Amino acid sequence: MTRPDDWHLHLRDGVVLRSVVGDSARQFARAIIMPNLKPPVTSTADALAYRDRILAALAASGVPEGAFTPLMTLYLTDKTPADEIRRAQASGVVHGVKLYPAGATTNSDSGVTDLLGNCRATLAVMQDCGLPLLMHGEVTDPDVDLFDREAVFIERVMQPLRAAFPALKVVFEHLTTEQGVAYVREADGPIAATITAHHLLYNRNALFKGGLRPHWYCLPVLKRERHRLALLAAATSDSPRFFLGTDSAPHPRGAKEQDCGCAGCYTARHAMALYATAFESVGRLDRLEAFASLNGPAFYGLPANTGTLTLERVAEHVPTALPLADAEVVPLAAGESLPWRLAETPTA
Ligand code: DOR
Ligand code: ZN
Repeated sequence: MTRPDDWHLHLRDGVVLRSVVGDSARQFARAIIMPNLKPPVTSTADALAYRDRILAALAASGVPEGAFTPLMTLYLTDKTPADEIRRAQASGVVHGVKLYPAGATTNSDSGVTDLLGNCRATLAVMQDCGLPLLMHGEVTDPDVDLFDREAVFIERVMQPLRAAFPALKVVFEHLTTEQGVAYVREADGPIAATITAHHLLYNRNALFKGGLRPHWYCLPVLKRERHRLALLAAATSDSPRFFLGTDSAPHPRGAKEQDCGCAGCYTARHAMALYATAFESVGRLDRLEAFASLNGPAFYGLPANTGTLTLERVAEHVPTALPLADAEVVPLAAGESLPWRLAETPTA
């Protein structure tokens, strides 16, 4: 297949970055890099500095120069100046601005408290210059049930935003519900969505299979089976609005196996094998290339990659743990066998 890209990835920083970046570079040519570091990546200068650290980590991991391109993002705050958007656009390396509703997930404390109340001028410039808004689509209102946060976000945030800025490019990140699928499929204007491998492969039963399973806990949380089926239908459909975003989010084992465990599933190492398994489960491997390699670049206004990636139908065992800096990370589907593996190093 045409070499794929990952349109939603957490690489972290420092020694963790160095542990994980090779897993993505082995499969993907490019990835949209999430900005939720501590402190977050809120300016173009921060994004350029973070990009340099990623390039250094790639070199240290033996990835040939130019074989993997990090596409940087800014973390939107209540105070992001409109000018910062122009600087970001002019840099040529920032490809989106990420909305974390304050308190929605890992490192979202500096996120936005009132999108239309506080960010109008900034959103207007983004709409003007075509820089996409990448939305963590969940409300944080404690009165809303955890499993309804995405559906309520559509009514309370997404629809008013898109009525006010109809030409703003929007990516509904890590879509998890049939309501989200219906909205993205039918809405007017420039909208698309990323879908993770874990939301295509598992429903919320996985969180409780034989006991409490922290390594299946992510945000937005896994949903009911009917939502998983709606996501699978969307990903394998002929709509160009759905594309690959792993949301691979490494946390050391100890940060997940504790009384208040972190959200995030580590999927980067086996990402394409996981997606191939999901597409094959509904007999739609023929749609994998559009989802993984063509729809994303088309939405972001970038060319598709020229290199290729080959998967082969040979079973591969997922290790029970992988090294992560001086600790370890438990990958999604640890201890299970996947029917697909990478056949060879991708071509550039
Ligand atoms: O599960 C998640 N983990 N969801 C997010 O939105 C953030 C991510 C992380 O950074 O760990
Ligand atoms: Zn994420």
